[in-house]
Amino acid sequence: MCGIVGYAGGRQALEVVLEGLARLEYRGYDSAGIAVLAGGKISWAKRAGKLGNLQSALAEVPPPAGTVGLGHTRWATHGAPTDPNAHPHTDCSGRLAVVHNGIIENFADLRRDLLARGHVMTSETDTELVAHLLEDEMEQADGARPSLAGAMRAVCRRLDGTFTLVAVDVRDPDVVVGARRNSPLVVGRGNGENFLASDVAAFIAFTKEAAEIGQDQVAEIRADRVTVTDFDGAPVRVRDFTIDWDADAAEKSGFKWFMTKEIAEQPRAVADALIGRVDRDGRIALDEMRLDDEALRAVDRVVVLACGTAYHAGLIAKHAIEHWCKIGCEVQLASEFRYSDPILTRSTLVIAISQSGETLDTLMAVRHAREQHSRVLAVCNVKGSSIPRESDAVVYTHAGPEIAVASTKAFLTQLVSCYVVALYLAQVQGTLYASEIAEVLGHLRRMPDAVEQVLGLMEPVRRIARELAGERCVLFLGRHVGYPVALEGALKLKELAYMHAEGFAAGELKHGPIALIEPGLPVVVVVPSPGDMPVLHDKIVSNIQEVRARGARTIVLAERGDAKVAPYADTMIELPPVPPLLQPVVATVPLQVFACELADARGHDVDQPRNLAKSVTVE
Ligand code: M6R
Repeated sequence: MCGIVGYAGGRQALEVVLEGLARLEYRGYDSAGIAVLAGGKISWAKRAGKLGNLQSALAEVPPPAGTVGLGHTRWATHGAPTDPNAHPHTDCSGRLAVVHNGIIENFADLRRDLLARGHVMTSETDTELVAHLLEDEMEQADGARPSLAGAMRAVCRRLDGTFTLVAVDVRDPDVVVGARRNSPLVVGRGNGENFLASDVAAFIAFTKEAAEIGQDQVAEIRADRVTVTDFDGAPVRVRDFTIDWDADAAEKSGFKWFMTKEIAEQPRAVADALIGRVDRDGRIALDEMRLDDEALRAVDRVVVLACGTAYHAGLIAKHAIEHWCKIGCEVQLASEFRYSDPILTRSTLVIAISQSGETLDTLMAVRHAREQHSRVLAVCNVKGSSIPRESDAVVYTHAGPEIAVASTKAFLTQLVSCYVVALYLAQVQGTLYASEIAEVLGHLRRMPDAVEQVLGLMEPVRRIARELAGERCVLFLGRHVGYPVALEGALKLKELAYMHAEGFAAGELKHGPIALIEPGLPVVVVVPSPGDMPVLHDKIVSNIQEVRARGARTIVLAERGDAKVAPYADTMIELPPVPPLLQPVVATVPLQVFACELADARGHDVDQPRNLAKSVTVE
């Protein structure tokens, strides 16, 4: 949530910062702003709305040239998305500027105190008070002015809550200072230039060398060096890493939306998620895993923690873990976990699933689990992010950068990675024979091809989506692993098309939701394979008949050649035959296309849906 960029180097800071903000806009688009240091002054500009509004303002009144600066795209927390609440915020003297991602929880007390001491606030944000706290530190009565980094450390020690802060000050004109607690911040190391950002995407066009900034640390970047300390000023060693994708991967490359591009990339993403997972003897080997087999043999219960789409991946992973490993698995919303008095032991394996690795609800749940002495395995897409860093082990999903707010390829790679983790656990615990594992791996290797086939059959999905653009409500039904797919289809439609959409376990319909069915209501149904799951198949065919009898318009996702369900489908979307547990990998794709097309038909911004942000770094 919120995108932050800081730059110190030889280029024009404005250009570098705007380029970075364009790549970070998916993190929040309620407002955007920049500040540039030049000629002993700070010039700043900020506008409510998307980055385009700021760019238009800057085209009319460009700031003076300068090589040190910062920028921000906002996802509003404290204060409405207005010009005054946009970042950066300045102090009373206008000599420093600060941007922020997160929420400062002791905001009210600090603000009261600052106002009582004569500071003048011009916004409703919690961020502005940081500018005034820094001002106090820089203007100490005894005249012993600290460096901007020293002032930042002193201020951070007084703050409660979550924050990434980045600041510049005319009295320290060569430096940009950043600090973090619970919200993301990375350094980009260039040649004669350095960067600070919420996410490596901001500087990928300039450098692929990056460094992680840890919890409660302050980073100072100058053109020629980077210095990192803890909040008490003790130097810390940072972990450097190289970004393993190119700037092109974060471009639309001719697609109308990032989402359409990311949907199309899924066969490759699924294939990449499987690379290097099997050793020469055909045994599963998870390179990034840091849990030893002895610890895994002792696991007697699995708890999966995640939010949103990643939670749906967890619901599907549960079926695979229980079926292949014969270990009880529960899936919890990370945002609820800490407050539910969870029972965890040393032999509980916690699997935290997160695309961004920065979702604060999931990060807090991970910390809670580790405090209870459980081992935590992260299934994550973004390298060097907080959740894998704070977990005992990690399996990266290798989806590549996902820019659209709605998760697509990250979800499919989370599924594939969870299947592989489940197979690994089954291998270590001896609950599957090597031949059985090899058979599933064979099916997994054919999944990129199966996804490609689905993508080739999307014309009827696009057509029906456009036909339904005027509807107000769509229901999604599924059973077994098809139920989380239904939940995911409904979530996609809500977030992109702003339509009322609900996913139900089809068998639950008769216990209440069937009252919602009225003539013409679109109902999307995910049907299991008739050959592999005949009983469940028959039951869901009955469920389809029940809604059709009440006038619903049925859109059925079923295996190619499923003659039993065809008579009850107003629209039939065919899926290639795959084993039942793997069906979500192919069945989710049409629902992504459906939501994307419907949102586009309704004239919405598919990549940046209202009120949302890609990475949710507040609780
Ligand atoms: O980065 P994470 O996977 O932890 O994000 C979790 C959710 O916020 C995310 O999946 C969200 O639900 C997406 N917008 C769904 O498309």
